[in-house]
Amino acid sequence: MPPYLQRGSIPRKRHIIHRREGGHRGEGLYYEEVVTTAGFGRAYSICYHLRPPTRVVKLEPAGEVKTDLAPQKALRHHHLKSGAMKAQGDPVTGRVPLLVNDDVSLARCRPAKPQAELFRNATADEVIFVHRGIGTLHTMFGSLPVQPFDYVVIPRCTTYRLDFEASTPPDLLVIEGSGTIGIPARYLNPDGQLRLGAPYAERDLHGPASIDTIDREEETPVVIKDGQRLTRYVLASHPFDLIGWDGMAYPFTFNADDFEPITGTIHQPPPIQQTFDAPGFVVCTFAPRMLDTHPEAIKVPYAHSNVQADEVLYYVRGRFGSRRGVEEASFTLHPRGIPHGPHPGTILASMAMTRTDELAVMVDTVKPLLLTRQALEIDDPQYPYSWLDG
Ligand SMILES: [Fe+2]
Repeated sequence: MPPYLQRGSIPRKRHIIHRREGGHRGEGLYYEEVVTTAGFGRAYSICYHLRPPTRVVKLEPAGEVKTDLAPQKALRHHHLKSGAMKAQGDPVTGRVPLLVNDDVSLARCRPAKPQAELFRNATADEVIFVHRGIGTLHTMFGSLPVQPFDYVVIPRCTTYRLDFEASTPPDLLVIEGSGTIGIPARYLNPDGQLRLGAPYAERDLHGPASIDTIDREEETPVVIKDGQRLTRYVLASHPFDLIGWDGMAYPFTFNADDFEPITGTIHQPPPIQQTFDAPGFVVCTFAPRMLDTHPEAIKVPYAHSNVQADEVLYYVRGRFGSRRGVEEASFTLHPRGIPHGPHPGTILASMAMTRTDELAVMVDTVKPLLLTRQALEIDDPQYPYSWLDG
């Protein structure tokens, strides 16, 4: 979890009255809301609203998000080329799930229009990787500037609107996790601080700089997603009406270019690139870095049969030394049980290289990933044969 933050006005102790002049119903107080994660077991924030956050005018079904699975009869590697997927929907409705299991969903989203309604994911933490686009995430905790190569981490039950500047068409990779997405425990010292030597530190995590209180007694719709079900709640007032909050549960950004790669004289294994941790999967950042310095080092990864893990790489930027044929916005899926490794010719070609400018996001899952129909539409059926000489 990101470090403790405090923004705006909070009372001296938690759970005591936060007084004001007048206010809602003339009660002379701000209204406390405790926002927790993992029940009451993990990080939480305590928020103070102008009005109670519980006033619902109307609720109605708002459809469902369908995941159109396309079961595969053969186990094989996949190469999905998502760079030409057409823009559709908005930053929420335009998501196209490609690879899914019980723990995680990977979707591409190339929004064609601004987000129409406030959105709240009730059952998944979200990490939105911004491949392209400059914008702002608006939440009750305040606003966050969003820029290319940001991981935008949004804890479940954060109501938000993600806006982009019209001049920068957004292009997003959306990771939804059923469990809590957080900082790997091994990066934290017993005092909860990011260790010296961890690939990022507190200064690299950016929470809301200030709160932007919206004082509006007007009906405001919020679409809530729980699982596949969508429900539209019409609230009696705008939910971004905080005058203060503190705690460790809030949305934040981390830019992939702030990831400090750990390198060695010989090849270092993928866990050194881990960025986030979650039940059932990890998110890693393959960042630009110095390559291995041993005079005989092979600077591309060795072939391996990823045992008990499915490996997804999403290629963001630069040249990818170990792969032929991948392009920006390609995904490769290397499932468990069959080896994969550097493409022919890349081992020797790597020996003279001193650094790589590649940027890629990796998601490794414990359970097998299933492809959707939309994934199959952009799949290269020849990819499993791409290791043959030639
Ligand atoms: Fe691999």
